[in-house]
Amino acid sequence: MVIPPATFAKKMLAFYDLHGRKNLPWQLEKNGYRVWVSEIMLQQTQVKTVIPYYRKFMQSFPTVQSLAEADIDDVLHHWAGLGYYSRARNLHACAKTIVKDHAGEFPQSLADIIQLPGIGESTGGAILSLAYGKDDAILDGNVKRVLARVFLVDGWYGKSSVLKALWQLSREYTPKKRTGDFNQAMMDLGAGLCSRSRPICCECPLSTHCLAHAQDKTAEYPHRKPKKRIPTKQTVMYLSIDDENQILLNKRPPTGIWGGLWCLPEVSPTGTVIEQTTVFDQFKHTFSHYHLEVDVIKSKGLKTTTLVEDNSGMAWHNIDQIEKLALPTPIKKFLNKHF
Ligand code: ADE
Repeated sequence: MVIPPATFAKKMLAFYDLHGRKNLPWQLEKNGYRVWVSEIMLQQTQVKTVIPYYRKFMQSFPTVQSLAEADIDDVLHHWAGLGYYSRARNLHACAKTIVKDHAGEFPQSLADIIQLPGIGESTGGAILSLAYGKDDAILDGNVKRVLARVFLVDGWYGKSSVLKALWQLSREYTPKKRTGDFNQAMMDLGAGLCSRSRPICCECPLSTHCLAHAQDKTAEYPHRKPKKRIPTKQTVMYLSIDDENQILLNKRPPTGIWGGLWCLPEVSPTGTVIEQTTVFDQFKHTFSHYHLEVDVIKSKGLKTTTLVEDNSGMAWHNIDQIEKLALPTPIKKFLNKHF
């Protein structure tokens, strides 16, 4: 049976009471500004990495006014090492807006908050629930994973219909009371026990109601981004080695695949002599937009110049010296295999 919202909330709040973290720096002396900065830092970074950065940031910029007045270079300097620097730029721009348009008070309605740069609905909900005890739901990556598993939500959550279904579940299952504790417990569960690759279901407060666990499908959920279907192209390359161990290579034009790299000469698609040759070896390579299947032909009797379409980049290279050349990885692998 699908878990009722009241049971879900009760279990998550009991989990929070027993295991939830309650002494993180942003959970002490709580206010909108402090929670906001923590949520932005935590967007792409783990709690243990964030803590020292957060402490230093708060020492330098203890209030929204001090952040608004700070030099952007100073703010970026505090961010150095956290990555995703647009977060710091948005934070600084937001602080200025809050001072100018909201009298220095962090806005307390979701509609106002999500107007600010860098704050989406989930971060807005987290700030409102954690800092002000409002009843807004959240849906960050961790919560998506928990919900997708408990309710077996099909599809990749980059798709708007899947995202919509997850938001609907989050709103339905988020309690009106103790919303901040519930949201914190959901984020902690997703970051800890319900991790992507190694969930520890035997310790999870939701395991007896989790459909993915019941069906032994935690590894499949949440569904990943579907792989693109891409076409397969075929080509023929020519392996020509003379009696002095020199190999004929072709420097490709600067644009297009393997631009500017040395490659085995590609046989002209109109080459008529190909039928008389045998395939020496084959290899495959996948580019972002297509798979390439390569037949490599070798035949002493063939005149290379009649086979290749454009011989302007052709040069003979000693086979022992080709390591020094810029070669595409699959060509390098192919040559290493044979020589
Ligand atoms: N990720 C984003 N916000 C978080 C929070 N408040 N606690 C733990 N992980 C988070």
